[in-house]
Parts: sequence; structure tokens; C-alpha cells
Amino acid sequence: MRKIAVVGTGYVGLVTGSCLADLGNKVICVDNNEEKIAFLKELKMPIYEPGLEEIVKRNVERGRLSFTTDLKKSVPESEVIFIAVGTPPKENGEADLSTVEGVCKDIARSMEGYHLVVEKSTVPVQTGERAKETIRGHVKKGVEFDVASNPEFLREGSAVSDFMKPDRIVIGVETEKAKQILTELYQPLEVPIIVTDIQSAELIKHASNSFLAAKISYINAISKICELTGADIEKVAEGMGMDKRIGYNFLNAGVGYGGFCFPKDLAAFIRICEKLGYNFELLKAVEKINKNQKENFLQKIEDALWNVKGKTIGLLGLSFKPNTDDIRFAPSIDIIKGLLKDGARVKAYDPYAMDKMKDILKDVEYCKDAYEAAESSDALVIITEWSEFKELDLEKIKQLLNNPIIVDGRNIYDLDKMKELGFKYICIGRK
Ligand code: UGA
Repeated sequence: MRKIAVVGTGYVGLVTGSCLADLGNKVICVDNNEEKIAFLKELKMPIYEPGLEEIVKRNVERGRLSFTTDLKKSVPESEVIFIAVGTPPKENGEADLSTVEGVCKDIARSMEGYHLVVEKSTVPVQTGERAKETIRGHVKKGVEFDVASNPEFLREGSAVSDFMKPDRIVIGVETEKAKQILTELYQPLEVPIIVTDIQSAELIKHASNSFLAAKISYINAISKICELTGADIEKVAEGMGMDKRIGYNFLNAGVGYGGFCFPKDLAAFIRICEKLGYNFELLKAVEKINKNQKENFLQKIEDALWNVKGKTIGLLGLSFKPNTDDIRFAPSIDIIKGLLKDGARVKAYDPYAMDKMKDILKDVEYCKDAYEAAESSDALVIITEWSEFKELDLEKIKQLLNNPIIVDGRNIYDLDKMKELGFKYICIGRK
């Protein structure tokens, strides 16, 4: 059992803290947002993440998990301190590390005895070095510490199971002591642990996210070629994925990737590379294809209706992917803005993300379910592949729509079935 503090209770911090408590450690989750901490103390979840609430409740009840705004007090009580604060993008795409720096200073000032400070947030390569210098500059004389990097690979919507059953754990350390603490901490998961230097661990994170984004843009580009030639992207992806060196995962063509990780991490990585003197053109093309993919999808809707001006579009799915209420950098935002700009009326439905979207897009009509969104609409558009959309009564949808048109950005329906039902079914990379 280790005593741990996790600074920052966003997706990463909250999931990491509660899962580490579930592994038997004593964890304090710290955040300077008083409202959020008060909420968590009442066992209310600030985010929708499957399985999280149960883990939080169980570990609070067992006395292994607590929440506080008091970083000063938490530091001396914790041997291991994870930094999981935000690293939002600056205007030029670079990651803003001012919060990380501020937290390093605060941690340093409260340190007594040995502490291991672990970067958990996604940070540019060489941040560990900066963190070490910052802590060294503010720590009391004689206090020993180590800095380590332990990037997370959690996906929103499956973050708890990703934590408990990861493909690998990456640990970047400089000392034997730091290595021992972190390997012991993750031992109960019984998964491969790769131990590297700090820079390599930091780079593994950015390189992995960029590679995954590249895989998505690649398949999206191929979907365009499918449309130009009459090939079927689903079959092409299947045939490619059967090659173990390529693999099936992340070969789903769609409306482009979104979320708070890929767009931000790619921009930050391109920027770091530029600063290091390398022009990462490949990743710039990945970004461009992703932007085009959203624009092409908007065009598909417009083409399906000839003109969208004055027409009503029923739209299903607002979150950037299923099983989350997160709408940050969601493709739905750009697509809806495009439709509204061109004079369409938009009726939208999402199982979890509507409350968040209401704050951003006020000119949208929010519906109680998919059927209400379809009712008297001129076309139905699918942006996020929530499983409930796959099970819709399509006969009923057809009756509710003004025209039997579905524009599907996630290829969720069978082509033959849609033909049989009499839909004009427009999707990605399929005829
Ligand atoms: C991503 C990574 O997958 C995690 O490993 C990483 O820890 C996380 O970023 C992070 O850096 O914090 P996440 O953004 O939650 O996780 O979601 P993904 O499941 O990776 O999906 C990202 C986007 O790609 C979504 O918009 C999704 O719709 C899109 N996508 C994914 C596709 O368009 N096609 C695919 O085949 C897969």
C-alpha cells in the first residue's frame, strides 16, 4: 500500500486516482476547483465515464480515497505525487504548461522527506527535465525527490477498463528507487511494464497518439478513393486489418477524429518537432485530411438535399465518440455550425452530451430521442455511433422523416438492408 496524491481531477486524474485506490493504495485526489471537490465529496461524478462512480463510491467507503483542495497538506502525507493537471493548447498549438509549472512549485514547497513526482498529464518531451529544475529551485534544503514520467493511454468511455487492463505500462525513470516504486505500484495489474528514460516515456505518448491519428486519417483518405472508384471501405479495411502488422483497430472511416486528445496532442507534437528543427510534414497532412473529412461530410449532406437552406436536419450524436458526454473538439460542432450557417434548421439528439452542447450551440433544437429528431426532418444525419442508434426502428424512422434520407458519418447500417427499406443511404466510402 502506497500513499499517493493525484493533482488534478479531470478525466485522467480522477480515473487514475480512483483506480489506484481500488488496487489497495491510499489516494488523495487534489483539485483547486472547490465546486468540483465539493461535488466529488458528495459522491457525484463531474463526468460521465462507465464504471467510475462505482469505483469512487467503493473506495471512499473503504477509506482509501478522499478529495481535497488542500495541496499543501496532501503533499507531506503522500510518497508518490501524480501530476494530472490540464495542458491545454495555446493559440499556436503548443501545450500550455503553466499549470504544470505552478503545481511543481507548490508541490516542491510542501515536500518533506522523499517524494516521487510523476508526470501523468500528456506533456512534450523534455518536460520532465523542466519539472525537475523547477522542483529543485523551490524545495527545502536536504529534501530528496525523483521525477518520473508515466503517460496514460486511457480512452474516454472505457477509461476504467483501460486502466485496469492496459496493453502496457510505460515508466520513464532516472533512479532505481523510482523504478521500484512505480513497478510495484502497477504489479497487481499483471501486464507488461516497459521501463525507459524520462524523455523516451514522454515521447512514447505523443508518438502513439499521433500514430493512431495518422491511422484514422489514412483510412479516411482511402475512403475518399473508395468513393471515387466504387470500392467499399468496409471491405478494404477488413482486408487490410487481417494483416497482423496493420491490425483492425482504428481503421474505421468516419467524420474525422475529435476529442481533447488527438487534435491537441497532434498540434503540440508538430510544434515541439518544429522547435527541435524538424518539420513533421506527415503529421501536418494527417491534420489536413481530418479537416477535409468534416468538410466533405457537410458537402454530402448538402448534396443529398440539393440545398439545405430552409430544410430541417435531424442529427444523431453530439459527443466526439460514444460512451462519453465529452464534446470537446467534437466533429458534430463544426458540422452543425456549417449547417446553421447555410440556413438549415437542426434538431439534435444525443444520449448524454446534450446538456454540454446546449451551452455552446444555442440555435439547435434538442430532442428527447432519435425519433423526435427524425420527425418531419428532411434528412437524418448520424455523427456518433452510439449503440442505441444501431438498434433504431428504421421503418418508424422512415415514416417520421419527410424524405427517406440518411447521411451516416459512421457507416453503422447494412447497405442491403437500407436499400430494402427504401432509404437513400449515403455513408462514408461505400456506394
Ligand atoms: C485517445 C487514445 O486512444 C488514448 O490511448 C489516449 O490515452 C487518449 O487519447 C489521451 O491521450 O488521453 P480518446 O481521445 O479518448 O483516446 O478516444 P479514441 O477512442 O482514441 O478516439 C479518438 C477519436 O478518433 C474519436 O473522435 C473517434 O471517433 C475517432 N476514431 C477512432 C475514428 O474516427 N476511427 C477509428 O477507427 C477510431
